[in-house]
Amino acid sequence: MNILLIGSGGREHALAWRLAQSRLLDGGGNLFAAPGNPGTAKHAANVVVDVTDHAAVVAFCAIQAIGLVVIGPEAPLVDGLADSLRAGGVAVFGPSAAAAQLEGSKGFTKDLCTRANIPTAAYARVASEAEAIAALAGFTIPVVIKADGLAAGKGVTVAMDRAEAEAALRDIFAGRFGEAGAEAVIEEFMVGEEASFFALTDGATIVPFGSAQDHKRVGDGDTGPNTGGMGAYSPARVLTPALEAEVMTRIIAPTVRAMADAGTPFSGVLYAGLMLTDAGPRLIEYNARFGDPECQVLMMRLASDLGEVLLACAENRLGTFEAPRFADDTALSVVMAARGYPGTPDKGGRVGGIDVAEAGGGIVFHAGTALESGALVANGGRVLNVTALGGSVREAQAKAYAAVDALDFPGGFCRRDIGAKEVARESLSGRLSPLRL
Ligand code: AMP
Ligand code: GLY
Repeated sequence: MNILLIGSGGREHALAWRLAQSRLLDGGGNLFAAPGNPGTAKHAANVVVDVTDHAAVVAFCAIQAIGLVVIGPEAPLVDGLADSLRAGGVAVFGPSAAAAQLEGSKGFTKDLCTRANIPTAAYARVASEAEAIAALAGFTIPVVIKADGLAAGKGVTVAMDRAEAEAALRDIFAGRFGEAGAEAVIEEFMVGEEASFFALTDGATIVPFGSAQDHKRVGDGDTGPNTGGMGAYSPARVLTPALEAEVMTRIIAPTVRAMADAGTPFSGVLYAGLMLTDAGPRLIEYNARFGDPECQVLMMRLASDLGEVLLACAENRLGTFEAPRFADDTALSVVMAARGYPGTPDKGGRVGGIDVAEAGGGIVFHAGTALESGALVANGGRVLNVTALGGSVREAQAKAYAAVDALDFPGGFCRRDIGAKEVARESLSGRLSPLRL
């Protein structure tokens, strides 16, 4: 079978790496990536297809006899690419536009949580500045302000006083996020530790697909502005089996049921951002796709055939498919970003030393790189995801940072404390395995 992967980041490099190992490609099948990046090019044929031109993608699938399309990022999902492909008779991993509203509209998800009695922060949906300022009076400080739509992770403000909350609301309604800010959500501030939980569903069956913890702030010790994610590890051991079971029954299952009941079943990966509060896990937000860099650490641990699992999901066969398996090991990924990120990153900086970095057994996934006259250069905010597997978090962390230190990327920087909290907990728990370098 031939497979087409949509996207161009570190998430897609990790997906391409795993898809390239799939039995689905046995017998001469080809893996394509549109548009891909220099990392996906190691495993797939990068192709130039405009993914906003749905007819062009459907035509490409017909010409290349594509048996499965895997959509990585949220924008094409919210834009209805999965609908267009399904209408064209192509199996696709990823939700319809209607189901991707779980990520595409924070207000939509909050309303669904209310209807299905899913634990989440109290909220108000507002459609104008005047309405917002009036509703704000009903919230205590800190308070969380969110643009309703897709804002590349930049639409959320945790306001520490009323002036900051009002400024954030004014910004949204002044058009800072364009259409994504036509509406806003004001939320109660929740206290606890954050964790990410992943589930695959075809709309009828739900299977857990691992957990992870991200590091959203740009600086060590969780300081500085929010980013798309500066590093992650998997599994998130704070999500104990008992908590995962609670998340499945109280959050994921009622969501999948509500979407099916509404006639818009969710098919794909549901990524729940959770706050582990004293009163139990509560939903922060949903994403309708794999996290980036959370996907990279999940793929390092995956023991099942990724292509076969995603195809079973796309063909509504999860109910009879063997549950996906993951290694017990910990995977940890450190994001190397270009100086300036999350503001305007420096472009064009030399990126070298990947072979040396990978000699220790880790993988350097390409996130924002490009080839210029045959030389690899930085071409985005997050440039590389340096990822390693270990018998303990400490071992995975040591391997990942040894690989980071072997890179030759003078214009790059990273956090030096990815996984530090978990390493400290691991030391206390006595779960430490010997450190092998
Ligand atoms: P989101 O894009 O909705 O995941 O929000 C980005 C980040 O803002 C989250 O990872 C949290 O750290 C924080 N956040 C969002 N909503 C809340 C909330 N209701 N209470 C506390 N923190 C929040
Ligand atoms: N790393 C956060 C996300 O992918 O949304």
